[in-house]
Amino acid sequence: MVFPERFSNLPVATWPRLRALLDVPTQADETINMTIGEPRHAFPAFVGDVLAANLGSFAKYPNNDGTPEHLDAIAGFLKRRYDLDMQHANLLTLNGTREGLYNAAMALCPETKNGKQPIILTPNPFCQVYAVAALSVGAEPVYVPATPETANLPDFTSLSTDVLDRTAIAYICSPANPQGAVADEAYWRTLITLAEKHDFIIFADECYSEIYRDTPPIGAMQVATAMGADPDRVVIFHSLSKRSNLPGLRSGFCAGGVESIKRIRALRAYAGAPLSEPLQAVATAVWNDEAHVVENRALYGVKYKIADDIFGHVAGYDSPKAGFFLWLPVENGEAAAVKLWQETGVRVLPGAYLSQIANGVNPGHGFIRVAMVAPTQEMQRGLTLIRDCLYD
Ligand SMILES: Cc1ncc(COP(=O)(O)O)c(C=O)c1O
Repeated sequence: MVFPERFSNLPVATWPRLRALLDVPTQADETINMTIGEPRHAFPAFVGDVLAANLGSFAKYPNNDGTPEHLDAIAGFLKRRYDLDMQHANLLTLNGTREGLYNAAMALCPETKNGKQPIILTPNPFCQVYAVAALSVGAEPVYVPATPETANLPDFTSLSTDVLDRTAIAYICSPANPQGAVADEAYWRTLITLAEKHDFIIFADECYSEIYRDTPPIGAMQVATAMGADPDRVVIFHSLSKRSNLPGLRSGFCAGGVESIKRIRALRAYAGAPLSEPLQAVATAVWNDEAHVVENRALYGVKYKIADDIFGHVAGYDSPKAGFFLWLPVENGEAAAVKLWQETGVRVLPGAYLSQIANGVNPGHGFIRVAMVAPTQEMQRGLTLIRDCLYD
């Protein structure tokens, strides 16, 4: 039997690796899991009723591209949030953002770029699907550090002309998982100008866009539109997993220029996994509602304040601007995670499990990622234990 080689260098996936690391006893009576970014605030109460009212559609094959009502709801969100005028031809519903981030690369990465193997840029640390997408399409993944030295966003302008000319796609996450950094207008303008110069597409993963402190993060498509850029220069990805606490619904969308969306849609018509219509009906109602999003954001607002009170004195603590993770500096993330688990029963993720060694350095090595998703009091207990164990 002949098997592919292209995935043979993948690191062990994050969660099995973490389970193996923390497969040691803890002395604590209570355990607090702060590893996974699985929201635990309530999802909107109307979800059950909408699902029940649409059960009959389970008998149908779903609309691949998204029902018209669902696409209207998404367009409405993009209008309210970013003042974008998106038509159905600019939109595609996804079975969760993750598969879209993968399949968009399948659909849009060329076989060669300027006669050479294409490059896909990803921030480092990053959401692991970016690298797997790059390997799947035969591109070379190039990991660009996103560290406190670069304001926790990748500095793509620092790359050589040779790399940029081979670049087909640049993934970028804003608000960023894990650091909570937000790309501002100047950052997007610089990146879009760079993409125009070297002719690559930006995949903007904005799935944390609705979880912020006071000012809504500006969007990549919003800036591209204001610049008069080609709409095919940017594809944005959004999700109900974080905005509406529905990670199990598996509902997201991507939006972009007509040509790129047409190509992603065409591929998905053969190999995609569309969202069933009862779930599309739920997603429609959820995108149409903002009240629950405001409430959800207020709960995170309380959590940011608690985190700042607890860690404000810690050298190198960078209070997140958005999202629901803390990216805490430590000497060695794996050692810190093991010590925390053994001594306090708190489980966190070593930063290095979200990043790759590039140029001999793993930029996540000196960090742990802490998800602030648990109910407030449990989260506060967890953060206090972390501070007392690692920083006092
Ligand atoms: C940065 C980032 N992108 C994408 C995803 C995938 O989200 P979804 O649940 O929409 O597939 C996640 C999920 O944790 C994420 O953190």
